Amino acid sequence: MIYLDNAATSFPKPQEVYREMDLFFRERGANPGRAGYRMSLEAERELEGTRKLLASIFGAKNPNRIIFTLNATDALNMAIKGLLRQGDHVVTSTLEHNSVTRPLENLQKRGTITSSRVRASQEGFIDPEDIKKAINPKTRLVVITHASNVLGTVQPLKDIGRLVREEDLIFMVDAAQSAGVWPISVEEECIDLLAFTGHKGLFGPPGTGGLYVGDRVELAPWREGGTGVNSQSPSQPEALPFRLEGGTPNFVGIVGLKSGVEFLLAKGIDSIRSHGHRLLSNILRVLEGDNRFILYGPKDTGKRLSIVSLNIKDSSPSLVGSLLDESFDIAVRSGLHCAPFTHKELGTFPEGTVRISPGYFNTEDDVAQAVCALKEIASSIKTAGPQV
Ligand SMILES: Cc1ncc(COP(=O)(O)O)c(C=O)c1O
Repeated sequence: MIYLDNAATSFPKPQEVYREMDLFFRERGANPGRAGYRMSLEAERELEGTRKLLASIFGAKNPNRIIFTLNATDALNMAIKGLLRQGDHVVTSTLEHNSVTRPLENLQKRGTITSSRVRASQEGFIDPEDIKKAINPKTRLVVITHASNVLGTVQPLKDIGRLVREEDLIFMVDAAQSAGVWPISVEEECIDLLAFTGHKGLFGPPGTGGLYVGDRVELAPWREGGTGVNSQSPSQPEALPFRLEGGTPNFVGIVGLKSGVEFLLAKGIDSIRSHGHRLLSNILRVLEGDNRFILYGPKDTGKRLSIVSLNIKDSSPSLVGSLLDESFDIAVRSGLHCAPFTHKELGTFPEGTVRISPGYFNTEDDVAQAVCALKEIASSIKTAGPQV
């Protein structure tokens, strides 16, 4: 099987991730920070080591401001619901994943907030000037995705972050697709809240992720409970990370995430991105010249992750996805990719597109086979007539 759905989750993981999780779970799997015995203290050290690594890759000065979450969705909900208050206005974009759109929509329906959705260009870029225009006196938060999970388009974070800081607002970034793949600096890009997931570009297991909380922000906890510190108090501790980390963490997963990040750092973010770009260019080079295909996303691969969304003319993306799976043993993701407003912008709603997302463990041969399979499908559809 050729797996080309790394934008959903990276697969396989580096061998070290499986090995370290297995070893830790079997031999050292005590609850971290809840007791004074050595095994528990060692588990706590694993967590703190992971926090430090994550802080270093995002340029965050204080590792205690990295909060472990279950995934990006958990981090985004924690930030949105912990920050926003009655009457606040939020600026967001049409590129957002439902993990941003839905919590905002829920707060809006309840009458807590109002929001404005800035439109993206056909290539998936947001114009910082449009964000500026959408800001009003009630605006408290600007939240955008760093990289579109449909188009791979990467936003100019520094330009947007500086603008948001000048307006004295909170800047939140959904880095679910870009963490581990694209350089991010919370200081240079003026990011106050950075949500990321562990199971994509960071090579960790599912059930891991995090939220960076900058020192301009105070979030109300949305999950309160045991932290192993200040147990005499009936209230959640004020200090981070405990304020936002009630309950036993997914410490086996976090050990896996640590191995994933170590693997990433050993290979180098730049070289991993270059590999992805090579595979992306191989796909685009062949399909761009073939008028049976409609390709979406930026022409400039230097502003794009290794993600290709496409359609075959006169065919539905779900049919193409099924044929790739059943006839060619190739796994891709067809449909709306949990980003309905992006597809509305592209004119591909409600059927969506076929998304191909090569990862670090894919080879040039994998993508060559996928391209051949797509061409064969396009030929068979042309012979059989429109399938939509
Ligand atoms: C841009 C974007 N944001 C958020 C998410 C949610 O990530 P998770 O499923 O890890 O919560 C995804 C997942 O595909 C995504 O692509």
